[in-house]
Amino acid sequence: MSGLRLIRTRRDLRAEIGAWKAAGLTVGVVPTMGALHEGHLSLVERARAETDRVIVTLFVNPRQFNSAADLAAYPRTEGEDFERLVPAGAHILYVPDPEEVYPPGFATTISVGGVTQGLCGAFRPGHFDGVATVVAKLLLQSQADRAYFGEKDYQQLLTVQRLVADLDLPTRIVPCPTLRDSDGLAMSSRNRRLSPQERDLAGALPRALFDAAGRIGAGEATSPVLASAREALLAAGFSRVEYLELRNAADLAPVETLEGGPARLLVAAFMGEVRLIDNVPVTMA
Ligand code: PAJ
Repeated sequence: MSGLRLIRTRRDLRAEIGAWKAAGLTVGVVPTMGALHEGHLSLVERARAETDRVIVTLFVNPRQFNSAADLAAYPRTEGEDFERLVPAGAHILYVPDPEEVYPPGFATTISVGGVTQGLCGAFRPGHFDGVATVVAKLLLQSQADRAYFGEKDYQQLLTVQRLVADLDLPTRIVPCPTLRDSDGLAMSSRNRRLSPQERDLAGALPRALFDAAGRIGAGEATSPVLASAREALLAAGFSRVEYLELRNAADLAPVETLEGGPARLLVAAFMGEVRLIDNVPVTMA
């Protein structure tokens, strides 16, 4: 018998967590939208190492999608996700029905400023409002001591850190490194939507990103490096580069040089119909 319980209601979740808390156990949560891969599982592993009980949430949050088509195309593999979480040692898979998250009459939106400006915030209007609102709810419903987020979604990670600081939420946010396939492509649920040929071509994304980060770190001027990286992506088969920008790593303010401290190079680009995002640190060599 597996130690993993599938829970679908706030009520059942609260009862289980209440018993844990009464026993003095700490709780870690890993919020996800499912279609789990090794990247997600690395967050679960970290949570297992640092907390007594681990909740993985699976909710494909309609409020953070910009188009109905993108929401409909999002992969849904709940049965497989459950099976993957058993050996990973998670204790609860919480798959709330939509009414458990957004009951009738729901009318609150949390909007984080600052770090949500530009990048994905510019191309996906309302996306980070949807993320901040659902993450606040998931952290509160899970009463987690710690919550685990990937650097893969760097702007999201900073948004959640801001949210928790600004609203005095009692959960500590733990950033986790990006897991990559052998060709460097960051693991993502969206990679499943790439054809085999597109998947091959997509390896150009991390190559361009790491190459540009290395050159900027070595002192080359940022603008020409970014311009040639953009061209490399288009030449490699990406149909559109939404953004490729150097930002301050702490507050995501646009930067031209590394003088103001550690920076981050962030990209969003389309391979066929699939929008891929990635980011890497940029530090002085
Ligand atoms: P999702 O895309 O399923 O990602 C869930 C978590 O896994 C996020 O914290 C994400 O950064 C992390 N993750 C994804 N790919 C990763 C990789 N290759 N390496 C390490 N971590 C990775 O992000 C969301 O869901 C949603 O926006 C959510 C936070 C659940 C709110 O709905």
